[in-house]
Amino acid sequence: MINLSNKRILITGATGGIGKEIVSTCLSIGAKVFAVGRNIEKLDEYKTNKNLTILKCDLLIPKEVEELLTKLERLDGIVHCAGKIYPYPIKFIQEKQYNEVFSINTQSIITFTSRLFHQKLIAKKASFVFLSSVSVNHPYIGGSLYVASKAAIEAFSKSIALEFANDQIRSNCISPALVQTEIYEQTKNSYSKEQWDKILSQYPLGIGKPKDVAQLCVFLLSDLSNWITGISIPMDGGLLLNNSK
Ligand SMILES: NC(=O)c1ccc[n+]([C@@H]2O[C@H](COP(=O)([O-])OP(=O)(O)OC[C@H]3O[C@@H](n4cnc5c(N)ncnc54)[C@H](OP(=O)(O)O)[C@@H]3O)[C@@H](O)[C@H]2O)c1
Repeated sequence: MINLSNKRILITGATGGIGKEIVSTCLSIGAKVFAVGRNIEKLDEYKTNKNLTILKCDLLIPKEVEELLTKLERLDGIVHCAGKIYPYPIKFIQEKQYNEVFSINTQSIITFTSRLFHQKLIAKKASFVFLSSVSVNHPYIGGSLYVASKAAIEAFSKSIALEFANDQIRSNCISPALVQTEIYEQTKNSYSKEQWDKILSQYPLGIGKPKDVAQLCVFLLSDLSNWITGISIPMDGGLLLNNSK
């Protein structure tokens, strides 16, 4: 049985579809949770939970990040869910598009993580979990910037695993295929019904639910995964079985 009692867990993107489910799952197994997002009213249903601290912060605004750092306690787990999907065909990518995607998916996550270490907010034996994407190894047309931004996060995660192994700090990525959240709804809207049905038919176990991701996440945060570090775990409901035909 997974137990996170006495563990302090920070979750960015806690107001999103996957992040919110991770908040709820962590609370249900005893963790003390610091939930970070911009539209924090999305967490209203949990706000009376005494183990939850809700922190409003735009990770793209350095002043807000510095303020956030002053409100945290030493952390045993850090889950980075903040991120966005922006589809751009390669021939239309300019500095503006590059910055839009990399600023939230990569740069803010890397610099914030660095600040957490610098401020000595990471406990020994802490566990990092980064939300990447199965598309890092199986790209899709139009996804080049998104895929590249997540590939950078996977490389960063491996670097944490190596650089802080002496403190038994671990770092891993979860790489989902389609999970039913707002991102899913936005993606769906850019396809015809026929195209979308074809995409869904490629998932032998159907598309993912936020709960599926949250369950793997709490395993990676827990002591049950003590010997797992520096990897990225795909979660795809069997999608890649179909793609290898
Ligand atoms: N859903 C999928 O199919 C899927 C598949 C593979 C990987 N992923 C990855 O999983 C993660 C979570 O996805 P999701 O589906 O839960 O997405 P989501 O529902 O759109 O949530 C995205 C989260 O990122 C936060 N965020 C965005 N910009 C921010 C900023 N400047 N400062 C602070 N927070 C910011 C949002 O906060 P506010 O809402 O408060 O603004 C929200 O909490 C993402 O990294 C995504 O790339 C998702």
